[in-house]
Amino acid sequence: MGKDVIIALDFSGKEEVFSFLDKISGIAQKPYVKIGMELYYAEGPAIVREIKARGHKIFLDLKLHDIPNTVKKAMAVLARLDVDMCNLHASGTVEMMKAAVEGLTRPNGTRPILIAVTQLTSTSEERMQKDLLISAPLDETVMHYAKNAAEAGVDGVVCSPLEAGKVHTVCGNNFLTVTPGIRFADGDVGDQVRVTTPEKAKEIGSDYIVVGRPVTAAADPVAAYERCVKEFVG
Ligand code: C5P
Repeated sequence: MGKDVIIALDFSGKEEVFSFLDKISGIAQKPYVKIGMELYYAEGPAIVREIKARGHKIFLDLKLHDIPNTVKKAMAVLARLDVDMCNLHASGTVEMMKAAVEGLTRPNGTRPILIAVTQLTSTSEERMQKDLLISAPLDETVMHYAKNAAEAGVDGVVCSPLEAGKVHTVCGNNFLTVTPGIRFADGDVGDQVRVTTPEKAKEIGSDYIVVGRPVTAAADPVAAYERCVKEFVG
């Protein structure tokens, strides 16, 4: 599996994004980037095409969750948009995830990588049990959703780097783990709670790390990105 560092482009509009991308334009191998809901809803599919045209691979983080037929059709649109990775909520059921894989598969058989969100890290075990009436422990729920995703033909899950090893044990080494919550050993943790360093994420077995502020807010984003790559990819 190709390990890679994905920079989260958590900016609210295209001026900010392009000003950041200009700052890192000297990096020879264009970094993989993540476009989230805020930027996508502000700028629409044009932002994906423009960033793609600059040579970046794109993880479009829109977390789809709807009836299977709607998700299938929406995924076909994302495949035509030529993103490299996209995602959905595993709680939409195995049937919804299978429909997504079908919709995402292009006529020539290729498709973007598809990743499932299990339980959002903002959901505590207490809220999951009280609000969602899921009585199983949180970690058991996460592993069950990961197994459902694998069964549906989805390629992997978003999870904490600290859970990547367990996900691989349960779903196999080829099942991808995409892990945010990355901080340098000497850096600011900010609002993240369960964090680890790029080096430790590599050790535990993450396939892709998603790094936002440690790179985007760094005084020298190129050096910060290169440090991530050096620690994580080697
Ligand atoms: O700035 P920071 O490195 O914390 O950014 C992490 C990125 O990963 C953000 O885009 C955040 O929304 C995303 N993310 C996360 N935790 C999850 C899922 C996604 O931090 N469980």
